[in-house]
Amino acid sequence: MNKIEHIGIAVKDLELSCGLYEKLLGAPAYKRELVASEGVSAAFFKTGDNKIELLAAITGDSAIADFIRNKGEGVHHIAFDVTDIYAEMERLRNNGFVLLSSEPKAGADHKLICFLHPKGTNGVLIELCQEINEGQEIRTESNG
Ligand code: CO
Repeated sequence: MNKIEHIGIAVKDLELSCGLYEKLLGAPAYKRELVASEGVSAAFFKTGDNKIELLAAITGDSAIADFIRNKGEGVHHIAFDVTDIYAEMERLRNNGFVLLSSEPKAGADHKLICFLHPKGTNGVLIELCQEINEGQEIRTESNG
């Protein structure tokens, strides 16, 4: 684990929350991205070296829709930057953590990602994310 890469926040209305976070941080979102496979629309903010990801559901069956139904808006996950996501997943699996996918998935912002089950991490959803390297051979759940 290299550092906290971003904090993910679940919001009901991405436009409203973008306005709010722009006022809070004094800078607009630097990027928007639709992650259709996850049923999520995302906006990214930077403050210094740190990144905040706002996540809104675009479908009723997305994980963000579930989260907001159960817990309301708020901190959804903490993401850690890793150098080799396959090696980290193996290390964590060997240490008894439950991974939510057996292979990384292609996530937002040009990353390979994997989530850990929050039951094994004191109720906090943890995301591993690795920048996809130029020319890297990628093995994910979606493309086999
Ligand atoms: Co994230």
